[in-house]
Amino acid sequence: MLQKQKIDWESLGFGIYPTRSMWKSTSNSNGQWDEGGLIPYGNIEISPAAGVLNYGQGIFEGMKAHHSSKDRVVLFRPDMNAKRISRSCKRLCMPEIPEDYFMNAILEVVRDNIDFVPPYKMGGLYIRPVVWGTAPTLGVAPASEYTFIIYAAPVGPYFKNGIKPLNLIASQSYHRAAPKGIGNAKAIGNYSSTLLPVKEAKASGFDEVLYLRADNEQLVEEVGSANIFMLKGNQLVTPRLTGSILDGVTRDSVLKLAQDKLGLTIKESDLLLKDLFKADEVFCTGTAVVITPVGCITYNKKPYKINDGNMGKVSSQIRKLLISIQLEEEEDTLDWIHLI
Ligand code: COI
Repeated sequence: MLQKQKIDWESLGFGIYPTRSMWKSTSNSNGQWDEGGLIPYGNIEISPAAGVLNYGQGIFEGMKAHHSSKDRVVLFRPDMNAKRISRSCKRLCMPEIPEDYFMNAILEVVRDNIDFVPPYKMGGLYIRPVVWGTAPTLGVAPASEYTFIIYAAPVGPYFKNGIKPLNLIASQSYHRAAPKGIGNAKAIGNYSSTLLPVKEAKASGFDEVLYLRADNEQLVEEVGSANIFMLKGNQLVTPRLTGSILDGVTRDSVLKLAQDKLGLTIKESDLLLKDLFKADEVFCTGTAVVITPVGCITYNKKPYKINDGNMGKVSSQIRKLLISIQLEEEEDTLDWIHLI
């Protein structure tokens, strides 16, 4: 039996819950990461002139550890996060993190905080690796020292209403990322730019913002905290990775499951907003949001209901299948599960 912290697991939302320890290591600009190790979870000292604080030289990852039906703790496709963190580091001019170094650090954090992993079916331990330029940097230039931290927090659902279909607004005022910018890196700046749009959307009664492409506003991009999919007939469509869209691990998993296990046709292509309004089903995907249906999209003050505002049958099927693989209820034929 895995020991657990005394936490009211049922009331967990998606927020910070302090755990026992976190990983910390540092690197010079030549990419030599030191041995690193676990330290108590808590505040760290940082120069006010740090590159990350002044010029946004920072990236992050998001992954989850689950207590599975086999009464053990498992990770879902951590190799995908390991590869993406290095791609993000490269784009932000930061030293890459070798895959085995990343995996070892993740395992140390999860093992040391294993009693914070929510019980089977009660959420997950959200793992947040971050890489920041931490040396003082007054002129705009890459920092001469970097810090790699991994902290974790037990979490429940990302949206406070769980999987109640989302009410989105397609933004005519803001873009999330620009062509040839940093949209496909998990850069901190991609998320700070969404704070005001989301605040305004929530004040008007929406749950989240659907961003349109900066180079063609007739096309859909992503939701900021998640990728977007549309089902029309037997075809599942998601925006192609143009360079300004994040290549989500859940996005990739849904495409594979839809094709291999559910016999759907999949298409990664430009996705017209007007086609989304006529979709049979729409849903968002991400590590944090898992698979969350979309019930309504408002554009130009006009609301377009999807599937009468309800979660669709196929969205439910894909969500169930993905979760059952993550929780080892379904055989892991795709080799996606990594034991702790
Ligand atoms: C995730 O799904 O892990 C993300 O990184 C989204 C996050 C901004 C909550």
